[in-house]
Amino acid sequence: MLNFTFHNPTKIIFGRNTIGTIGEEIAKDGHKKVLMVYGMGSIKKTGVYELVVNSLKSHGVEFVEVGGVKPNPVLSKVVEAVNVARKEKVTAILGVGGGSTIDTAKAVAVGVLYEGNVWDAFTKKYQPEKALPVYVVLTLSATGTEMNPNAVITNEETGEKYGMSYPCIYPKVSIIDPSVQFHLPPKQTANGAVDAMAHIFEYYFSGVENTDVQDEMAEGVLRTIIRYTEKLLNDPTDYEARAQFAWCTTLALNGFISAGVGGGDWACHAIEHALSALYDIAHGEGLAIVVPAWMKYTMMRNLKKFQRFAEEVMEITPDGKSSVQIAAEGIEKLKAWFASIGQPTTLKDAGIPREEIPKIVENVAKRTLPIGKLVKLDKEDIVRILEIGAS
Ligand code: NZQ
Ligand code: ZN
Repeated sequence: MLNFTFHNPTKIIFGRNTIGTIGEEIAKDGHKKVLMVYGMGSIKKTGVYELVVNSLKSHGVEFVEVGGVKPNPVLSKVVEAVNVARKEKVTAILGVGGGSTIDTAKAVAVGVLYEGNVWDAFTKKYQPEKALPVYVVLTLSATGTEMNPNAVITNEETGEKYGMSYPCIYPKVSIIDPSVQFHLPPKQTANGAVDAMAHIFEYYFSGVENTDVQDEMAEGVLRTIIRYTEKLLNDPTDYEARAQFAWCTTLALNGFISAGVGGGDWACHAIEHALSALYDIAHGEGLAIVVPAWMKYTMMRNLKKFQRFAEEVMEITPDGKSSVQIAAEGIEKLKAWFASIGQPTTLKDAGIPREEIPKIVENVAKRTLPIGKLVKLDKEDIVRILEIGAS
């Protein structure tokens, strides 16, 4: 096991009827006025907006609002919200929504305390050590942002979709009420499943050895995600299934499973972020295309682990087969499962022609190459992976 420091300071309040505690949580930290950030309006349909507003009011917390955060959130919205937060002199940011909204809230929290362009934090020109405190009411379980120090934003001017990761943006408190996800479009549940699985893969397959307890946890969470995604696609209002699924997606990227495994691979995410930056597809959709293709390309470099995954998670029976056969069947079965929950698994499925590959590779190459850990990928490798995933 590699050395590690584990320090996750986010307080999680999980379960039915928990959203009404947000006002108390914010008030007891001494905040009198907050900026509430939200998306394109789902929180008004689900009743979450009303619950949050009532809770803030009943605890004497004033608020101003910035709505309209779109999926694949953009820098201009962050800048708009930073200006409101400064003008209104708020002392904390409250994100109410899915990953796009929470990531925007985190970026705003950094931007308010920085005189320069907040994009500098994404390019690492500025490495923030302070941010306004961030509070979260999560309405979509997928990204793990509710309990991690990451935010991902697209700079619309440059076409770059970059993540930042700084301890100062761990949310102070995150409320997860799985019942507010009953009316999520099935597509979003499927996106969340693929995203959370991909987070686990970024560590599980990264080539670090002596990670038995981490692997056992990873496999358990992966199997649980598969089981409960299938249940939820049959019955989106199954509370127990929503709860199991929600906690899995948090665990997938909050540092528990990855402690002792090092920093992870992250090549699939880097390639996917180019897809969602260029074509505005959902992050989970892009990953359903990239992950199986990356696995096929890198399989021989970590064969034992791909075999273990095939047997332990994808239930491939080994009888008389070679390791290569077992590993390859595991990847095919994962890809078929992604398709079965309605995800595109090729560029073609997502309406992206093969001719676009050079453009996608150029977008990935805007960051420093090589990317990845198990296999260090240069431009030619990324071309090959995208060709595998083309059709
Ligand atoms: O905008 P509204 O109206 O709220 O609708 C949203 C949006 O259309 C809707 N939605 C959310 N909660 C709902 C709901 N609809 C009905 N009922 C509810 N309870 O769902 C749609 C998608 O929302 P979005 O926030 O975009 O989805 P997600 O949570 O999957 O976030 C994706 C973003 O997070 C980034 C992705 O790249 C992408 O930009 N990621 C963030 C990470 C992190 N911070 O750690 C890690 C990930 O790897 C990922 O890159
Ligand atoms: Zn992701």
